[in-house]
Amino acid sequence: MPLTLRAVDIIAKKRDGLELSTAEIEFFVQGYTDGRIPDYQAAAWCMAVLLRGMSAREVTDLTFAMARSGKVLDLREVAEWVMDKHSTGGVGDKTTLVVAPLVASAGVPVGKMSGRGLGYSGGTIDKLESIPGYQVGLSHAQFIRQLREHGIVVAAQSAELAPADGKFYALRDVTATVESIPLIASSIMSKKIAAGATGIVLDVKVGRGAFMKTLEAARELAQLMITIGEAAGRRMAAVLADMDQPLGQAVGNALEVHEAIRVLQGEGPSDVRDHCLTIGALMLVLAGRVAQLEEGRALLTRHLESGAAWRKFVAWITAQGGDAAVLEHPEQLPRAALVEVMPAPRAGYVAALDAQVIGQASVVLGAGREQKGDPIDPAVGIMLHKKVGDAVERGEPLLTLYANREERLAAAREMLRAAWRWSDTPPSPVPHIYEIIPAALRS
Ligand code: URA
Repeated sequence: MPLTLRAVDIIAKKRDGLELSTAEIEFFVQGYTDGRIPDYQAAAWCMAVLLRGMSAREVTDLTFAMARSGKVLDLREVAEWVMDKHSTGGVGDKTTLVVAPLVASAGVPVGKMSGRGLGYSGGTIDKLESIPGYQVGLSHAQFIRQLREHGIVVAAQSAELAPADGKFYALRDVTATVESIPLIASSIMSKKIAAGATGIVLDVKVGRGAFMKTLEAARELAQLMITIGEAAGRRMAAVLADMDQPLGQAVGNALEVHEAIRVLQGEGPSDVRDHCLTIGALMLVLAGRVAQLEEGRALLTRHLESGAAWRKFVAWITAQGGDAAVLEHPEQLPRAALVEVMPAPRAGYVAALDAQVIGQASVVLGAGREQKGDPIDPAVGIMLHKKVGDAVERGEPLLTLYANREERLAAAREMLRAAWRWSDTPPSPVPHIYEIIPAALRS
């Protein structure tokens, strides 16, 4: 190795398919974060990583270097096991809103930093901001105080956490280098490690509306993130979950909050409830609260039915400034001016429902953003009345559109026609959860 490291040599080494040393990776991450390495060299390096890949050791080094580029929190000052969960992104994914209070109601602390939505993939922070008064920006002291007092806190990701990832992600977004398993794994895990939870359940989405289009790719990503988390001393588990069609019926910020409230009150779509019970039960297993997944699901089912999870939700949102009256009367959440039902164009069975198209239509309505920093409209979105496998009569309501602008409503309506595929016979059922890793946690 040359005495003085140079970015160009590190790029060439990766271009030629060689393994980078820990020192080379640290040099590159530090140099890019503090501006000594320019964007054009970092872009070339990202492309070399995308094309040549990385060993698990390289990805672990990359993750640790990115995590150490900013503050690294340690939530063990609050409890030995503080849980977090992370979704790799999807459409209609309101899991955090249900799972966080559900798990906290069972006495296991949940301390989580979440992101905003980008593109067709929604973000928890945007959903929470549709509740009037809810404060997403907490100082470290406020975060810790709320976690101690209520056993639950969900705040926006601070810019001080893993700043290297902020720079790399913005660059990858415009250099066609997002779709790299080593770069995705290190991006997600650097933020998770810096955020300080000691147990992390990964909700890895697979399908049309997900980054990972195949089960093999999702499995590889999940396994890699588990390896990195365990190397950092965290307890880890992953669920590979379907994202061919959206999760639940609601897509759009206030609509999703309303659906989460219904699930916490013992109603709501069964796929959302089932998904949240599995993710929540895994968090209880990692925290040592229960020994097995089924025991965790049974415990959390009781907490849903007794109202304990709902009461924890109200306590959490109120503690972070949210208006409790709105939670009790969710019809007071932001509402769209234009409401339009789309009827089924034919009779038959829903064979497929493209989550990506539905997500893109919700962005057109204003529920998501095309560019970082774009404003969003909390009231707009889509409610799906039929999902894959459902029988439909011609003219029956397929979905309802919620909009605030006529031209956006017209554009979304046009897009949504392409989201449905039909069959004359019932399609074979699709599993909602494909796999749990490690396998030992499945029973
Ligand atoms: N989510 C992230 O945080 N990073 C990625 O690279 C992809 C998804």
